[in-house]
Amino acid sequence: MILYLILGIICFLIVFFWLSGFIYGAPYQASSTSAAKKMVKLSQVKKGQKVADLGSGNGKLVIEFAKKRAVVTGFEINPILVLVSRWKIRKLGLQKRATIKQQNFWNVSLSKFDIVSVFQVWHVMPSLEKKLKKEMKKGSKVVSNTWKLRGMKPARKDDHVFMYKF
Ligand SMILES: C[S@@+](CC[C@H](N)C(=O)[O-])C[C@H]1O[C@@H](n2cnc3c(N)ncnc32)[C@H](O)[C@@H]1O
Repeated sequence: MILYLILGIICFLIVFFWLSGFIYGAPYQASSTSAAKKMVKLSQVKKGQKVADLGSGNGKLVIEFAKKRAVVTGFEINPILVLVSRWKIRKLGLQKRATIKQQNFWNVSLSKFDIVSVFQVWHVMPSLEKKLKKEMKKGSKVVSNTWKLRGMKPARKDDHVFMYKF
């Protein structure tokens, strides 16, 4: 009986946090390994550059960028994914360059980042585009998995990954 209760609570929490991702942005789905590698490649990231992943999920993009010696911050609202990604980062010994903040990315200023990566969802892209145009500094880049910024022409693309220059 207690086991069923615990399982029920765990299932509820998973669904609840998955849905909360959908309210504020995209629900959780990790980028494929090939898409993540394309995002990093198209960004032409350099050692020491500041990178943000908006909605960092299980930390896949954060880890890929940190492996290239960038200084990466992942912003994630789902506390379960925050724990999982922090654990992965620690296991790989990347804590000095990779940080996960449990934060709604809509409340984060993007002005200090050289590169921003996103894998969000169609219905948030227009608002996200406005935010990026307002906050990204000159010369910075955005890489997006699957979804385009409709008001901008990608500087480069590879399959369904798009890179924009600001
Ligand atoms: C499609 S997943 C992408 C995960 C990761 N970036 C990747 O490419 O593997 C989108 C993530 O954004 C998170 N998310 C959605 N809205 C958010 C918000 N407003 N602030 C922070 N995280 C958010 C979801 O919880 C989910 O983990």
